[in-house]
Amino acid sequence: MPIDTVVIPVAGLGTRLLPATKSQPKEMLPVGRKPVVQYVVEELTRVGMHRVLFVTGPGKASIENHFDLNGELIQILRETGKEELLAELEFERAAVQYFYTRQRQLLGLGHAVLCARSFVGDRPFVVALGDSIIGMHAQSDVVRRMIACFEERQAAAVIAFEEVPAAEVRRYGIAKPKDGGEIFEIDDLVEKPSVDEAPSNLAIAARYVLAPVIFDALERTPPGKGGEIQLTDAIRSVIGDGGRAFGVRLPPAERRYDIGNFDAYFRAFVDFALADPRFGASLRRYLEGLLHVSGT
Ligand code: UTP
Repeated sequence: MPIDTVVIPVAGLGTRLLPATKSQPKEMLPVGRKPVVQYVVEELTRVGMHRVLFVTGPGKASIENHFDLNGELIQILRETGKEELLAELEFERAAVQYFYTRQRQLLGLGHAVLCARSFVGDRPFVVALGDSIIGMHAQSDVVRRMIACFEERQAAAVIAFEEVPAAEVRRYGIAKPKDGGEIFEIDDLVEKPSVDEAPSNLAIAARYVLAPVIFDALERTPPGKGGEIQLTDAIRSVIGDGGRAFGVRLPPAERRYDIGNFDAYFRAFVDFALADPRFGASLRRYLEGLLHVSGT
């Protein structure tokens, strides 16, 4: 049976983006024209995920509303002759079923994935972080390549990786690869290492394909760094038990836009706005003028 289920954890507090995230989810912040999580869902539905489970928390209701049909809005647009704007709501009609569960205690990403256990059952599934876009305008099919790898190599886990500058390894889970290439076997993973400890500069990049054995591993995983149950620790324990895990490198054209901090968020917004077919050219002229005038 094809893998058709994606779990999207969106329960985190997003404290690094305060005050913007005080009363709205970081996953709903706009990047260009769309909220982050809409790019995530569009990427995943294009590669065949028809069951989307959001792991949510308090203050995340706007995510549910965003993916719901808004009949009143459609009617108003029709009645006021704004037919062209209806196309902007096409995503509401995607052939997807949405499900929601609550992470009742914020015990980390691993715990958020564990909340999906009874929904997912005993089938492999995809995990996609709700605060990370892959590729300009989410034009990435890396999850398709990851699923192919998962099936061909009978893997227990396949993870997307992106090369990051050495100074940034301490912000991510980092791979210790067994071999090279676009697809590589993972010997081990290190969560947020120092530059000296890091076995490579390959950082986990927000997309996973996982066998259901991960749930037993998560149940056994004690809280790690920051008192949180780390998904990385559970994947390490699956590898330790003899499961095989593989990494798929993101090519530069499918880079990860992490919306978790302001520096990355601002850059992502500018990149997407500059690539906007309607407004990009005028923004470029504006920025060129601005930078020229300020002499930077
Ligand atoms: P982050 O690791 O960026 O954590 O989450 P965060 O708590 O949202 O952000 P800060 O550190 O307070 O700024 C990565 C993804 O995992 C989800 C988040 O919603 C985000 O989409 N997440 C994280 C959960 O669903 N539950 C958690 O307990 C932690």
